[in-house]
Amino acid sequence: MGKSVGSLLLSVFVLVNLSTETGGSAHRPILSGPNLAYVNTKVEFQCEMPGLSIPVSFKLFRNNEDLVATRNSTKGRSASFQLQVKEGLEGRYYCRVTAGGQTGISNMVHLQVVIPVSGVSLLSDPNPPIIYEGTSFTLYCEAKRGTRLFYTWYHNKQNVTASFHLYHFAGNSLIVRGATEKHAGKYSCLAGNKMEVNARFSGSNDMDIVVKTYLSVPKVSFTLFKEGSDFRANVSCWSTRGSPPVTFTLLLEGREVDNHTSNSLEAWFSVPVTVGMDMGVLQCRAQTDSHQVLSDPVDLEVAPVGGQVSVQVQYLYTADSRLATVQLQCVLTRGTLPAFSWSYNRSPLPKERHPSSVIQHGPFLFLTDITPENSGYYRCMARDSFDANSSWVESEEALIKVAELGVASIEIIAVGFCCLLLLVLVGSVLFMFCTFSQNLDDATQTHVEELHQSDSSGELQVPVVETEVVEICV
Ligand SMILES: *[C@@H]1O[C@H](CO)[C@@H](O)[C@H](O)[C@H]1NC(C)=O
Ligand SMILES: *[C@@H]1O[C@H](CO)[C@@H](O)[C@H](O)[C@H]1NC(C)=O
Ligand SMILES: *[C@@H]1O[C@H](CO)[C@@H](O)[C@H](O)[C@H]1NC(C)=O
Ligand SMILES: *[C@@H]1O[C@H](CO)[C@@H](O)[C@H](O)[C@H]1NC(C)=O
Ligand SMILES: *[C@@H]1O[C@H](CO)[C@@H](O)[C@H](O)[C@H]1NC(C)=O
Repeated sequence: MGKSVGSLLLSVFVLVNLSTETGGSAHRPILSGPNLAYVNTKVEFQCEMPGLSIPVSFKLFRNNEDLVATRNSTKGRSASFQLQVKEGLEGRYYCRVTAGGQTGISNMVHLQVVIPVSGVSLLSDPNPPIIYEGTSFTLYCEAKRGTRLFYTWYHNKQNVTASFHLYHFAGNSLIVRGATEKHAGKYSCLAGNKMEVNARFSGSNDMDIVVKTYLSVPKVSFTLFKEGSDFRANVSCWSTRGSPPVTFTLLLEGREVDNHTSNSLEAWFSVPVTVGMDMGVLQCRAQTDSHQVLSDPVDLEVAPVGGQVSVQVQYLYTADSRLATVQLQCVLTRGTLPAFSWSYNRSPLPKERHPSSVIQHGPFLFLTDITPENSGYYRCMARDSFDANSSWVESEEALIKVAELGVASIEIIAVGFCCLLLLVLVGSVLFMFCTFSQNLDDATQTHVEELHQSDSSGELQVPVVETEVVEICV
């Protein structure tokens, strides 16, 4: 009887101390082990049986019923299992402990097998990575091997962050929509294994991203030069923006005359010209591998300098009405490509020896130093810039009286200002005198009464006083 009670109690004890297959208790076995492990490393699982009964065997299982290993216990309450990590070994591990004819099942440990990253390279779409501004491109950070990867991107050695709004990240790709010139440069990526400890990395080589800009509408201009007894136009075609190489084609009256492929944004063409004759309309076409643009037309017609030449004078004043600059302009009635020259008091005003106070710019001559030395007779001359043998056409002489005018205006202003100051001074003295004498003359009582009366509407006070002053003064 006592023995059966004893064995019953023991069974209950064992039951309480072991968890059953369906439920857990305070004394169920505990399995500990890593959640992440690189392939080809060793890991250890530890199965522990707390409580009182001595276990007989520990069995480690993977997923449902895959028995991984068994340990027959001799005395200890725990067993350890060492495993060589292989690619197929990931799963949910648990241990089953047998003790006193009862069986307990531990918690689950999920082991993920991580393949170290290696062989990272960068791929681009489009490939090769040459794109036009405004279009999109995607870069892929491709690892030959590796699981649980994260990616870091670099642009010109700077960590690329998503906060720069034109960058988007998706998995192993970096996406740019609407690229600008700023996106050009060297890109690389770094892939790493997401691990709490011992993260491994593999980096790609640099990739050059070329962002091409669209051509701006080209401009056309020309100068003339003499070749033997003939004239030729040096026609310049240029764009201000765009990515070379650019092929410039010159069109005369719609026909292709010549073309140049240039690594700069400008090209020159030489075209024969008869001075005085309309040679037709010039146009320039700039083209790259993806698009082309056409300039506005320009008339290729060179009229020789001729007709009348005159000087127009303008006096330019500062905000405080001081004469600052005298501007002389040489005005032509005819001539497409004139060169200008000036004379001062009948002797030439050589370009090189201008004092800084005399500046020649195109048809303009500026006198910026307002001194009597700059007064005198000015004459302008014009001839064809392209023909050193053409004769100068001269204007009438223009008399510039710089100093007089400058001084005169300052004098007038000064005298006027003095008069005004004097008037104001006299006026205010008179006003103060009148007010003061009025206050003395009047009985103070009446004044106080008046002020008291008008207290309700303060506005009345001033007019009353003013009227008094005016009456007495007049
Ligand atoms: C554990 O014991 C059982 C039976 O007692 C036996 O069949 C098994 O081979 C033993 N295993 C080890 C690893 O000793
Ligand atoms: C790059 O930037 C990201 C986001 O700001 C940051 O999490 C990461 O640590 C940086 N990496 C490096 C290598 O600086
Ligand atoms: C045309 O003008 C440009 C710029 O001044 C010069 O570089 C080029 O040599 C000229 N071409 C000819 C044919 O004169
Ligand atoms: C440039 O001129 C050559 C002949 O001089 C011609 O064969 C070629 O097609 C032209 N290229 C362009 C883009 O017009
Ligand atoms: C200018 O004229 C002189 C003489 O009249 C002549 O010798 C010279 O060749 C001419 N120069 C040019 C550029 O036509």
